[in-house]
Amino acid sequence: MSAQTQSPVKRLTPPDIRARKGGAPIVSLTAYDAPMAAVMDPHTDLILVGDSVGMVVHGLPNTISVTLEMMILHGQAVMRGSKQALVVVDMPFGSYEQSKEQAFANCVRVLQETGAGAVKLETSVQMAETVRYLVERAVPVVAHVGLRPQAALADGGFKAKGRDEDSRAKVLAEARAMDEAGAFAIVVEGVAEDVAREVTEQVSAPTIGIGASAACDGQVLVMQDMLGLFDWTPKFVKKYGSLREIADAAFQAYAEDVRARVFPGPEHVYSAKKR
Ligand code: KIV
Repeated sequence: MSAQTQSPVKRLTPPDIRARKGGAPIVSLTAYDAPMAAVMDPHTDLILVGDSVGMVVHGLPNTISVTLEMMILHGQAVMRGSKQALVVVDMPFGSYEQSKEQAFANCVRVLQETGAGAVKLETSVQMAETVRYLVERAVPVVAHVGLRPQAALADGGFKAKGRDEDSRAKVLAEARAMDEAGAFAIVVEGVAEDVAREVTEQVSAPTIGIGASAACDGQVLVMQDMLGLFDWTPKFVKKYGSLREIADAAFQAYAEDVRARVFPGPEHVYSAKKR
């Protein structure tokens, strides 16, 4: 590619994010489509194409039945909409746990078919070998520890972690194992503040918290939650918008206009070409 045809905007890379440990907080949000990715891109360092797409876009009760094809389709859309943020695509349940070879083949498929910069895997200590295998083969990995939504069936729901001594030790061990395996960042979800602080102090990779306090090296939120699209907001989310109210008022006004034959008005109608 010649210098003239190269894009002037350089995307952030996994090493750029890795270098933020202990520095300026990493700003991250989830996105699933091109227009929203374009709006958030100038404000974010890392855009996560989360498998939460199953719940917040497709209306599923959890992330268990999200497929690789769904992640690829949404990953492609987010890549088209964004320019400068690092785009990370979630590996869905069942696409990486069977063997390290399965994980590698599916991660390569996601990276090749979306053009995203990295993948995220929900991880336990048992997954350390897989993460190391991926990293040694040049797959940039974000690990996800603490509350793992893909374990919702096994856990009996979405349960915060690290609230007793055993669980605290487990979260710390998971995070250390991921750090040693070479994850360039670690999402820490749904843990008590002291656990998030301890994890952040003990690992060399930056931690990105969700429901894990300001002790982390950065924050991530599900876009629809922070925009206020749903009638319920989780405790750990700050609502930065009232999208539900805005959309509801717009839909109501439109319905009234259509019923009153006020819309479309003369300004919305094509006129015939003059003969
Ligand atoms: O799927 C997702 O949106 C996530 C975030 C909750 C971190 O994994």
